[in-house]
Amino acid sequence: MKSFASDNYSGIHPEIFDAIQRANNNHQISYGDDQFTKEANTLFENEFGNVQVLYTFNGTGANVTCLKCCTLPFQAVICSEYAHILADECGAPTQSIGCSLLPIKTEDGKLTPEMIKPLLNRIGNVHNTQPKVISISQSTELGTVYSIKELKTLCDFAHANGMYIHLDGARISNAVAALGVSLKTATVDCGVDIMSFGGTKNGLMIGEAVLIFNESLKANAPYYHKQTAQLFSKNRFIAAQFTALLTNNLWLRMATHANKMAHLLANEVSNLPGVKINRSVDANAVFVIIPEHVIQPLRAQYPFYEWDAETHEQRWMCSFDTTEEEVKEFAQALKQVL
Ligand SMILES: Cc1ncc(COP(=O)(O)O)c(C=O)c1O
Repeated sequence: MKSFASDNYSGIHPEIFDAIQRANNNHQISYGDDQFTKEANTLFENEFGNVQVLYTFNGTGANVTCLKCCTLPFQAVICSEYAHILADECGAPTQSIGCSLLPIKTEDGKLTPEMIKPLLNRIGNVHNTQPKVISISQSTELGTVYSIKELKTLCDFAHANGMYIHLDGARISNAVAALGVSLKTATVDCGVDIMSFGGTKNGLMIGEAVLIFNESLKANAPYYHKQTAQLFSKNRFIAAQFTALLTNNLWLRMATHANKMAHLLANEVSNLPGVKINRSVDANAVFVIIPEHVIQPLRAQYPFYEWDAETHEQRWMCSFDTTEEEVKEFAQALKQVL
């Protein structure tokens, strides 16, 4: 099957697969005290500086672990109306932490201080849950990317108002590839306190990493990680994949390629009749409105998800293994059904 449905429809990059195989040798100490985890931690430190790293099975687990580290049950997390933590995690953060989520309307998936300011009235009012975290996704669920300036402004605003910044980095590699800066410049240097670093959507078989930069969040984190059921006894198999991902910039090579394929796809279809690229193509997602009658025949050939059933906006995702040929064939298939 060729697909533009999601970057987690793809398989495992061969360099990642080899790394899993290399880790499958002899016995190792369990629960992350093994040489492979130490190696991956060192590579994360090389990229980000002083960082505490915890590995998780999936992105939902990483987000829940992050939010658990920075909220109490009466506190609240401010997020976009499209945030994965709100829309796609079956209530996991609220169920497992007790915190509430305060969604904000946004056109492009991004948050700004101006949008958040009205919620500051809640602070100190015993009848309201207390905003403690601003959670953002980079890249966003709408395929857009915060600029460094936008990120810094938001982080400064959060800190000035006693809040943390949580970054859902399921697609941080795509965002950083688009920004053309280092991982550190795009995260901790902007003031991000805690984040997830995506693996599954960028060539891993399984795994994400929680990266903690704020010293005050580090001491309790291992306990929350375990309570959240995300501590893998055979952690070496997750960690070894991250070692491969962070070696020779594999993360960047894959993400750059996926982004390039999304741009190519947008270019190939943008002038077709009835086709409208509906959002800025900043990373590896193309949001596009197509005529209703072509959706089913096209989807029968290449699976993809409808984002908005009313407007017939579709979401097309490109992966590390999407080829130019596949993009052109897909565009050709669209032309035919049109
Ligand atoms: C923005 C974002 N965050 C987190 C996730 C992680 O989800 P999962 O728990 O399925 O790995 C996803 C996956 O779709 C996502 O798009």
